[in-house]
Amino acid sequence: MSYLDFERITHTYSREGQPVLRDLSLRVAKGEFVSLLGRSGCGKTTLLKMAAGLLKPSAGSVRIGGEAVTKPPERMGMVFQAPTLLEWLTVLDNVLLPVALRGKPTKADRDAAESQLARLGLNGFGPKFPSQLSGGQQSRVALARALMREPSLLLLDEPFAALDALTREELQEELLQLCAARTMTVLFITHDIAEAVYVSDRVVMLQDGGVAGDAQVPLPAPRHYKLRYEEPFNKLCLALRQMMEGGERHEHERRA
Ligand SMILES: Nc1ncnc2c1ncn2[C@@H]1O[C@H](COP(=O)(O)OP(=O)(O)OP(=O)(O)O)[C@@H](O)[C@H]1O
Ligand SMILES: [Mg+2]
Repeated sequence: MSYLDFERITHTYSREGQPVLRDLSLRVAKGEFVSLLGRSGCGKTTLLKMAAGLLKPSAGSVRIGGEAVTKPPERMGMVFQAPTLLEWLTVLDNVLLPVALRGKPTKADRDAAESQLARLGLNGFGPKFPSQLSGGQQSRVALARALMREPSLLLLDEPFAALDALTREELQEELLQLCAARTMTVLFITHDIAEAVYVSDRVVMLQDGGVAGDAQVPLPAPRHYKLRYEEPFNKLCLALRQMMEGGERHEHERRA
């Protein structure tokens, strides 16, 4: 049974423009962690915005739990590609934002926000402002905010892209631990093949407006960082890389 369903999606941003997505179908099962890989501009963010109810496809339908998405779903958390912490709010108020948009946060909400921050290694950071935080800490706050309303669907658009390799690996671990503690369906966009393989149950490659590859990740869970240096991991990364390069050659040949 699939939980998040993209059914024959076509999308064109402007009337005269080329479609960004063409007759794309993708099904994600409940509790599955799926990464979307693909070259810059291939339509990853476009697809994610459709799942978030922020963009309506020109044709086709998006369903969550069998229901058509017409507005941002209730139990959805999202981390946007561009940093979106509000500079004039404290860290705590940034995390509380999804709650505050629906009503005045209660003491229980504030406690939940504090514990969400603590779980991500930001104990006591609540009263600080985003400008006082490092890039990695800001990414953690954005993730804490996305988790604030116990989402059943988590949409992450390159959430760790701006971080150094080690911080990034740490956050991947933290994300996996958070996912293991609840049932969440995750759609995770990244440019980084190794990141996609490490965190996901399944990696989907977008290209030319459609799904060019769809691979299960047959690695044991929970993941351990040593996996990254082992043969099955590297073989899978190489196969995905070749798939991406194949796409590049194909583009090149078509233009020639
Ligand atoms: N609001 C918009 N209006 C017009 N064109 C858009 C708009 N948003 C995106 N596009 C175009 O649609 C295509 C897909 O954009 P999208 O943001 O989905 O790509 P992406 O795969 O997320 O890329 P990146 O990896 O660089 O983030 C791009 O060619 C982009 O220029
Ligand atoms: Mg994008």
